[in-house]
Amino acid sequence: MQFVEANGARIPAIGLGTWELRGRTCARVIEQAIKLGYRHIDTAQVYENERDVGEGVRASHIPRGEIFVTTKIWTTHFAPNTLERSVKESLTRLRMTEVDLLLLHWPSSHVPLDETLGALAHAKRMGLTRHIGVSNFTVALIEQAVAACPEPLVCDQVEYHPYLDQSKVRGACADNGLALVAYSPIAKGRVRGDEVLAAIGRVHGKSAAQVCLRWLVQQGAVAIPRTSKVERLSENIEVFDFDLTENEMAAVAALSRSDGRLTDYGFAPKWD
Ligand SMILES: NC(=O)c1ccc[n+]([C@@H]2O[C@H](COP(=O)([O-])OP(=O)(O)OC[C@H]3O[C@@H](n4cnc5c(N)ncnc54)[C@H](OP(=O)(O)O)[C@@H]3O)[C@@H](O)[C@H]2O)c1
Repeated sequence: MQFVEANGARIPAIGLGTWELRGRTCARVIEQAIKLGYRHIDTAQVYENERDVGEGVRASHIPRGEIFVTTKIWTTHFAPNTLERSVKESLTRLRMTEVDLLLLHWPSSHVPLDETLGALAHAKRMGLTRHIGVSNFTVALIEQAVAACPEPLVCDQVEYHPYLDQSKVRGACADNGLALVAYSPIAKGRVRGDEVLAAIGRVHGKSAAQVCLRWLVQQGAVAIPRTSKVERLSENIEVFDFDLTENEMAAVAALSRSDGRLTDYGFAPKWD
């Protein structure tokens, strides 16, 4: 496993996304993933699976300290008192004393950003999390957050895959020492039928999804693909035994298109 280092954090470059995984399936997939070598699990309060994630981690029998667990605070919990209580509730559901990374799930205009960041930093100082970061933050919001936060932020988790150009956010992350964590890294499964990725994959004996994930980690990003299928867990982590050439990296980057964004909501910020 490769790691991405950012402001004191050491983040395994491939993690397991868990959105929509629930109950027994969720716990079983996580247990299997850890047994296969995953050391990074991504959940969120709003996924309503923190209990199952905790169960899967424990069932793996790998020491808790070897697994990097991220959760995200939903925007309705951004007022300082509410934030602390909601994080403690997350830890109770996870049955963990701390998480490794705690993120603000989306920017919100309902509570001033500096107040929420103060509470997030306080959660870190209380030992509820080892590291803190943000998600779905634009370049302007990254800069605002880095300036206002009393503790270092270690990442911005954003949608990133070959169909979405994220060079501006990548630049802002690099300038501020933040890791870019790519969500929907295989474009919610859409890369499977991609001819360009499949053709590159044939050269290396890899699948289109593996080429896509390699493209992300080779740029220094972290990727958190999700699968509910145990057989795909190995496929998505076996991306550290080949290199894409400069031309191949450029060919994948050329797949970006203006309508490539898959996740957008009325409450989303104005994207870069
Ligand atoms: N911060 C945020 O706002 C935010 C937003 C979205 C997502 N996320 C996080 O990022 C994680 C990943 O994003 P995502 O779930 O949206 O999408 P994704 O990981 O890009 O794609 C998941 C989809 O791809 C399929 N798949 C998985 N591996 C595959 C492979 N090797 N070949 C072909 N298809 C494959 C899965 O189906 P099967 O289950 O059938 O394999 C599933 O339908 C989430 O689970 C969540 O943890 C965060």
